Amino acid sequence: MMRIDKLIETELHTTRKEMKRLFLAKKVKIDGEVEMNGSRNVDSLIHRIEVDGMYLKTNESYFLLHKPKGAVTAVKDQKRTTVIDLFASADRRPDLYPVGRLDRDTSGLLLITSNGQLGYELLHPEKKVAKTYQVTVNSLLDQEDIAAFKKGITFLDGTVCQPAELHILEAAPAESTALVTIWEGKFHQVKKMFLARGTKVTSLERKTMGPLTLDLRLLPGQYRSLTLSELKKLKEYFK
Ligand code: URA
Repeated sequence: MMRIDKLIETELHTTRKEMKRLFLAKKVKIDGEVEMNGSRNVDSLIHRIEVDGMYLKTNESYFLLHKPKGAVTAVKDQKRTTVIDLFASADRRPDLYPVGRLDRDTSGLLLITSNGQLGYELLHPEKKVAKTYQVTVNSLLDQEDIAAFKKGITFLDGTVCQPAELHILEAAPAESTALVTIWEGKFHQVKKMFLARGTKVTSLERKTMGPLTLDLRLLPGQYRSLTLSELKKLKEYFK
């Protein structure tokens, strides 16, 4: 998490009062523009953070993890391997956490960061960040399924989903594969959407989240830092 007011307090050792004065005196600039919002999320990798003529640096971590099946999306767990357990000790820090949640038996793209505010923005329902999953189900998928996803699926418990996109890759009576794109994130959403269509998900992998795509060079369990270009694509989510 890097709010600009916290950054100023820790880097410049100002009191809250001095810090507020810097804002009022228009001495705080991001990318050359006066910033008045103390809670603004910044990262010096993609923003020029200028305070009273000095340039401030942040130190956040952003990782793209290929979550393997079997790991739990949690920071701590009594028995099971968590997504944080997959990180080398040199890359670990106490504030690392996963942005969003994949089921234990789901694999694929997971953003792991110390920037909590960024995660909050990416998960906020109003932001409607797209997530695409590759899914295998145990029955035939057809045009009716595509139409139902487009209209908006209603779960068996009555919960109504927003319109989603279903793109069938292979269809056969015993097994079909497809890409599903959703713009929300209900608990077990994709599995429940297919259950509502009378079919069971047998394999699920997240391929994209917003502008991020699963790096095919990453084997399950492997991770890497986001590239500068990936971070720049996330810039609109720094609020
Ligand atoms: N939908 C699910 O059902 N499970 C996941 O892990 C992600 C989306």
